[in-house]
Amino acid sequence: MKNFYVTTPIYYVNDAPHIGHSYTTVLADILTRFHKIIGYQTFFLTGTDEHGQKVQRAAAKREVSPQEHVDEYYHRFEDLWKKMDIENDFFIRTTMPQHKAYVQECLQKLWDKGEIYSKEYEGWYSVGEERFFGEDELDENKCDPISHRPVEWLKEKNYFFKMGSYQQKLIDFLESHKDWIVPDYRWNEIRGFLRQPLNDLCISRPKARLSWGIPLPFDEDYVTYVWFDALLNYVSASTAFHKTYKDGTPIWPATYHLIGKDILTTHSVYWPTMLMALDIPLPQHILAHGWWLVNGGDKMSKSAGNVVNPMDYMEKYGVDAFRYFLASAMVVGQDANFTHEGFVRRINSDLANDLGNVLNRVHRLVLNNFEGKLPAIAAPLDDAANEVITIAKRVITNVMEWVPQVKLSQVIDEIMTLVRSVNRYLEVKAPWKLAKDPAMKDELATVLFVSAEAVRLSLCLLWPVIPTKSKEGLAMLGSKFTDQNDLVWGILKGGEVFGEGKPLFPRIEEEVKQQPQQQKPKQNKPLTAADVPAAMDMRVAQIKEVADHPDATSLYVLKIDAGEGELRTICSGLKNSYKAEELQDRKILLFANLKPSALRGIMSQGMLFAGDLDAEAHTCKLVSVPEDAKPGDRALFKGVAPSEPRELKVKDFEKIALSVKGGAVFCDALALEVNGKPVTCDVADGNGVH
Ligand code: MSP
Repeated sequence: MKNFYVTTPIYYVNDAPHIGHSYTTVLADILTRFHKIIGYQTFFLTGTDEHGQKVQRAAAKREVSPQEHVDEYYHRFEDLWKKMDIENDFFIRTTMPQHKAYVQECLQKLWDKGEIYSKEYEGWYSVGEERFFGEDELDENKCDPISHRPVEWLKEKNYFFKMGSYQQKLIDFLESHKDWIVPDYRWNEIRGFLRQPLNDLCISRPKARLSWGIPLPFDEDYVTYVWFDALLNYVSASTAFHKTYKDGTPIWPATYHLIGKDILTTHSVYWPTMLMALDIPLPQHILAHGWWLVNGGDKMSKSAGNVVNPMDYMEKYGVDAFRYFLASAMVVGQDANFTHEGFVRRINSDLANDLGNVLNRVHRLVLNNFEGKLPAIAAPLDDAANEVITIAKRVITNVMEWVPQVKLSQVIDEIMTLVRSVNRYLEVKAPWKLAKDPAMKDELATVLFVSAEAVRLSLCLLWPVIPTKSKEGLAMLGSKFTDQNDLVWGILKGGEVFGEGKPLFPRIEEEVKQQPQQQKPKQNKPLTAADVPAAMDMRVAQIKEVADHPDATSLYVLKIDAGEGELRTICSGLKNSYKAEELQDRKILLFANLKPSALRGIMSQGMLFAGDLDAEAHTCKLVSVPEDAKPGDRALFKGVAPSEPRELKVKDFEKIALSVKGGAVFCDALALEVNGKPVTCDVADGNGVH
């Protein structure tokens, strides 16, 4: 049997759980459930990180012992996961005796092997981050670069792990495992980091300063650095607690460590070198997802008072709606914006409208016309029915293929295309009209059967995301989901007795007010026209899916592959110029670092470049990239080195003008190129490119 072991970071026990924590955990839960239904044996680990100075301080402030403090606080995570229907196999706490003993065993092993040594050390110490920083790492105010709090100069003896001696081994490993870190641009980031010399890692803290940690077995005046203790949870959870898969296979190595992008270095540099020194196999993949931001781009923080509480959402709109939103609204790897309006819109359009409608329609029609018993196919299948069946089969194949690649939002989108195809089928066949004509009874039976089977399949495939609602929906169809064998076309036979029906996801009718945008601190200097060409991140992408925008007649909603692992959604005004089939699979040029913006309710993650064809008819021609260009290849202005990555606004782009000269795209005298070959556009010379 194939195995799947997924982990979340162990969360700092002091922190109040928020949607960021919920996201990683629900992602792990959904991936585990998906792997289960496609035939893997699974193990899912989460837990809490309970040592360190912050815990010691918080406990002292509350006048309780650190142990009492963590025993009380870890429940906040455990309770939230129960509420969210998270089915982890184990919850590890780093204060568990088995874990502590395992960490000490590892430390002793490294000490005996000469992988750890002691030396006098002095440097800038950050209390908040519990670590030293080099002079060159401090921020512009000489403060800690992460929390931006003051640092103090400290001199003390400490113990060091010879991390630096593993630099080449790690580079060699990365070079031969290019998919080890997902998405690939995070692999590039770590590969870039390793171009600088890698320092040894300080892994101890003097007990005099910090007592709440695991003592070093070879020097009781010291405790272990919290990351050294924390990272080992991924192995100790199975090894020290004697856990195996059901068939007895050992659980380590992990298939995926899911982490936020903030803890990429600890997981992709500290962790593999520790494992190499311990002669333990490395995990198979590290997957770094982006951040949930609020108010159009702010980080959540207690001090800003903008932390989104998962409990509020679940209590008001239900667990499954919340799970669905988190899983579908973030493209794994990229940041996503959490807004209340976005939440309401997505739940209403995907779950209340698309899924809810199709289920209710089929349910009601079977109840009213066939006494609540699903009819069997009674008429030959026409093209419309066959199209639904073809889509259903394609969706099953793609889900099976994409789940192991962790393309979660894509998997969900794919399942929703099946749901939407049934709605389209119902619109075309109008069974409510067929029901009025007794001569059409067989046709009606066939339409309802095909629709019910497609909805059954959609609900089974959505079970990992919306487990409770999937079950309720299947019960309405007189069906249930047992195992992988149900993931084929043709499980319903006719004769199933439909259950009671109520809307699975009632439409959220509240009025959503536009939140006033908070004043954001300026992080970047405004760009001058001369800066813009270097600041634009333009990438080759390929159109994978074309759909009509539900709310705007001139727009298509495109899913494009920009070589980032996950597809991006782009809303584009190409309808006057191109038919959908002309766009399918076409390569385009994406303006990738343009601030995402909502176009009639759908977030557009960038824009496409096209040259003006006919100003009056509002038609355009897409720019063409060289034939051998691949998704992800960058377009650059000839002779202009790209500047630091940053997000641009439309008004930045408007500071420059692109136009066509001799069939090629220029910004003044700068030619736009991909891999040294021109980007072209088949419009009249002098026409603008937008
Ligand atoms: N204790 C360490 C991890 C040790 S793992 C061996 C830690 N804990 S944490 O409580 O700060 O949680 C970190 C994780 O929470 C992030 O990596 C990420 O998975 C998640 N998130 C916290 N805030 C987030 C957002 N705003 N958005 C998305 N996820 C973020 O670091």
